[in-house]
Amino acid sequence: FPPARLHLNDVKFFARQLRARRQNSHKGSYGNVAVIGGADGMRGAPILAARSALHSGAGRVYVLFPDQALANDPGQPELMCRQAEGYDFSLATLVIGPGLGDSDHARELLQRAIVCGSALVADADALNLLAADPAQQSALAQRPAAVILTPHPLEAARLLNTSISAVQADRLGAARTLAARLQAIVVLKGSGTVIAAPNGDTVINSTGNPALATAGTGDVLAGLSGALLAQGWPQWEAALAAVWLHGMAADVLVTDGHGPIGLTAGELIPAIRTALNRMV
Ligand code: APR
Ligand code: MG
Repeated sequence: FPPARLHLNDVKFFARQLRARRQNSHKGSYGNVAVIGGADGMRGAPILAARSALHSGAGRVYVLFPDQALANDPGQPELMCRQAEGYDFSLATLVIGPGLGDSDHARELLQRAIVCGSALVADADALNLLAADPAQQSALAQRPAAVILTPHPLEAARLLNTSISAVQADRLGAARTLAARLQAIVVLKGSGTVIAAPNGDTVINSTGNPALATAGTGDVLAGLSGALLAQGWPQWEAALAAVWLHGMAADVLVTDGHGPIGLTAGELIPAIRTALNRMV
């Protein structure tokens, strides 16, 4: 059956609630996000996700490194940088995967994230680890709390044990199969991002452009998705709104002359904030 056009009315309803911050609210009202990732040599990936979550309204944002932690992010001192070891995963909405690596320790962190009761966004290396571990896939499928998976086509191909060209030849089918199998919202990224739910609902995003074809833009999407979950959005609306806003921010930046050539992932972040504040 044909996919629905991305319908923004539901999403706008939630965005209106998000904008209307209660006068007596405090940072605890807007949720915690913990981004788990950033093995040696890939520290920037979780930092981009965390900066994105912060600018998308999360009350507190942590970056949890698998090994030695950075003391802080000098460009974003609001972020709390820690080692993942010793942090209670049940205290935050989790965004796991950006730059996480494929070490045994990374696999243990993913296991901890799957079994804890927090809402979860799994991206990048978390998806690669999952693809290699059927037991973790079934644990994920049985998880009661919200799960959003954000594979790019290669990550989806690994999860489906197939090729990129097979995924790209049937993007709707690939996203639906993964959503049903893993009982999660699946965001299959790329031009015309597909969002699929376990019940078969499927939507193709209408925003975004090739300015996004640059390193780190996926990390920014993962952080934004986590921030919306942390602020209490249901998982389907969170995924739809995150994908739509991420693409819209890139579209506005291109209109303003900041792309398509040379737009950076970091520059998307304040544009997402503006798009979110305007989305009513
Ligand atoms: N049109 C619209 N959107 C696009 C386009 C395009 N032509 N090209 C890319 N995008 C969007 C995608 O939909 C997605 O939201 O940009 C984002 C790219 O995300 P990723 O592919 O995850 O890229 P990146 O952020 O660099 O990933 C970082 O993690 O997934 C691993 O192996 C990956 O090392 C890489 C790292
Ligand atoms: Mg990525």
